Order: sequence, then structure tokens, then C-alpha cells
Amino acid sequence: MSAPAVPSPPPELLAVRVQDPYPLFAWLREHAPAHPDRRDGRPTVWQISRYDDVRALLTDGRLSKDPGRVPGYVPGPAGLNRHLVHADPPDHTRLRTLVNAAFVPRRIAQLEPFIADVANRLLDRVEQHTHVDVIAAFAAPLTFRMICAILGVPRELDNAATRDTLMATIAPAPAVDAARSEGDLHALLDVLIAGKRAGGERSGVDLLGALVQASDDSGAMSEEELRSTAYLLLLVGHDTTMNLIGNGLLALLRNPGQAARLTGPESGPESGPSPVGTAVEELLRYDSPVRDATFRCAAQPIRLHGQLIGEGDIVSLLIGSANRDETRFTDADRLDVGRTPNDHLAFGYGPHFCIGAALARLEGAVAFPLLLRRLGPVHLAKPVDELPWRPARVMRGLAALPVVGT
Ligand code: HEM
Repeated sequence: MSAPAVPSPPPELLAVRVQDPYPLFAWLREHAPAHPDRRDGRPTVWQISRYDDVRALLTDGRLSKDPGRVPGYVPGPAGLNRHLVHADPPDHTRLRTLVNAAFVPRRIAQLEPFIADVANRLLDRVEQHTHVDVIAAFAAPLTFRMICAILGVPRELDNAATRDTLMATIAPAPAVDAARSEGDLHALLDVLIAGKRAGGERSGVDLLGALVQASDDSGAMSEEELRSTAYLLLLVGHDTTMNLIGNGLLALLRNPGQAARLTGPESGPESGPSPVGTAVEELLRYDSPVRDATFRCAAQPIRLHGQLIGEGDIVSLLIGSANRDETRFTDADRLDVGRTPNDHLAFGYGPHFCIGAALARLEGAVAFPLLLRRLGPVHLAKPVDELPWRPARVMRGLAALPVVGT
């Protein structure tokens, strides 16, 4: 029996999907919960938009994370795709164990004073201006500083140029630029890894040093896996949390009543379960920094909503849509910083659940109350529909968030 025809989304919703994907997501959930994107010469990509489906498929063994199953498909920079996001067990389990130790919540919690210190110093500079781009002045340097500290990236490489090199590898750009940015990226990794190898007994005290040791001493990791993992962590360790701060602050600026609930005396990460804890969860749900889950493909045919997902088809699990699903969240389009329960999927679910979740939550819990307090009364310096969103594949984040004092 042939599958029922799937309707195509209205062009006006597609036209604004980078700026505002939520009307498109609502349409998909209602009219085409398993929607195939078929383009000549490219693998079919199925978009899965309902909460229950996304959550079930995040743990479904019929889906694989190995891009090698999709002929001709290269998901990222050449030579840098052997990391845990693109691995199934047993490789995934081995790689995850090597990285996990650096991110256990107890170790991350110790970073709180450091995060607050860096955040305050950045805000000291911001306070001197009336016009500020919160992404460039705060969200990008804060989040990059944290992942650099965990990995052990030397201070001289913790800068905007390094960030640009990383971000260029995920920006949709002409092939010639892509080749150059990949070259820059490999050169950066050469320097970083050679630095750890030259560091002798200092290696091993930070995550990158420990990974280099795992590669050199016990062979627990190949050189390609080492380089790929370093690249993955540098990129996702900051792009994601930068988007949380940007998307989250935007949501708070657009909902001043909710922002006011965060600046009361009870807020602050040290005061246990408090509005800031639930607020960070709600901001993660409301405008999810990782809009689509990472690469997955069907390792065997899957039937869903009358459609047949073929072996080797790519399956895109729309986390941003699942998190606005009315069947799961009451008033899903409303921001409510006190929302409980809030079982959003912003960090994924199951074996690939975000390794950096504790770090991201802590950075958010420190950043939002500080930002609101120290920026004081501010408003957007541009109309909302003119804000520049980065047209990234998986992420949802602003290129700039200009605000001005009122
Ligand atoms: C607000 C910030 C963040 C969000 C929303 C986020 C979201 C996610 C999501 C949705 C996944 C699962 C993807 C999937 O199953 O397809 C994931 C995985 C991952 N995240 Fe995060 N993340 C954030 C911050 C971080 C940070 C700070 C790090 C630190 C290095 C990090 C490292 C990772 C890694 C290594 C994985 C892969 C885990 C695996 O495949 O086993 N993330 N993240």
C-alpha cells in the first residue's frame, strides 16, 4: 500500500523559518508530523516534530548516529567527524567515558565563582556603554572562556579570532571559504594538541591534556578521534550556551513581567530550588538553543504516521518543535519562568543526552540574574523582526543582540 501524500508547508512559513520557526513547527505537528524533505541528489531528510515521537526516537535503536551509512554524506569538516555525536556503541560508549569525567555535576559546580567572576568583569566593561551587543560583549566571550578553561586552551588562543575559526566551519558559506576555514581549524588543532604534547607532566590536568594522554599512552583514542573530539567540544561547548544566553535574554526582554520574577531577592544559583533554576529550564524550552537534534539516520526501515522512512534516510528530530508541543506543555507558546514540571528535550534524551548540561545550566543560572541586574532597564535596539539570526543547520542563535539603555 502506498503512503498517503504529505502536504507541503505554506511558503510564507518556510520564508521566515530562520527568524521564527515556531509557526512552521506548529503546522508540521498538525499536518505532517513525519515530513520528508526530498531534494535531487541529496539524501531524504525526515522532519519529526511532535514531542512523543521526538522523545521516542531519541532512544530508538533503529536509528544510527553513523553518517557513514548515508552514501556521500559528510556532516562536518573533513577529518573531524570521529566523535561521540557521530558514533554508535561500542565506540560511543568508549568516547563518552573518556570525556564524561570532566563534566560531572560535582566538578562543574566548583566553577561557579569563576563563572561569576568572568561574567562580572565582562559586565564591568559593558556598563560603560549605552549601546551593547550582548552576544559579542558577553555571551560569546563568557561561554568560550568556560570551555577553554575546561579543555585547557591557552589564554592567547581564547579570543574572537579562534571563535570565528570555529564558527566559520558551521556557517553556510561558499566552498572556497569552507576550505579555508577548515584549513584554519586544522592549524588551530595542531597548535593546541602539540602544546599539550610539549607540556610534559602538565598534560592530563585539563580535559584536552587528559585526552592527549588517552590517545598517546593507552591508545584508548585514535588521533582522528582526538582531533574530532577537541573540535566538537570547542564548538558545542560555547555555541550552544551562547545561544541560551542570547535567546533567553531576548525572551526575557520581550516578557518583562517574567524577567521581573528573576530579579527578586530569592533568585541566584546558590539559593537551591529557586526561580532561577526553573527559569533556565523554561528558557531552554521556550527558544531551544539546539533546535534540531544532531545527525541520525535510519539503520532499518521505520513506519511512522503512515509514512515509510527508508534505510539510509536522515531523520531530523525537531527539538525546538517538541518543546512547543501543546499536547505536552500547557500554553506552550507562553513563557512562564516558574513552569513545573518542565520535561523539555532541550538537552536531548537517552544515551546521547548532553554531556555539558550541568555546565550550561550553571552558566545560565549565573548569567541571567547578573545580566538583568547589571544591564539595568534596557530594551532592544532594533525591532524584533530585524534581529539577525544565524542560518545554522542545527542551532538556533542570534548573530547579535543589540540593546540600549532606557
Ligand atoms: C544550553 C546549552 C546546551 C544545549 C541546549 C545542548 C544541547 C544538546 C543536545 C540536544 C544534545 C543531544 C543531541 C542529540 O541527541 O542529537 C547534546 C549533546 C552533547 N552536548 Fe550539549 N548542549 C548545551 C551545552 C553543551 C556544553 C556546554 C557542552 C560542553 C562541552 C556540551 C557538549 C555536548 C556533547 C559532547 C554532546 C554529545 C553527547 C553524545 O552524543 O553522547 N553541550 N547537547
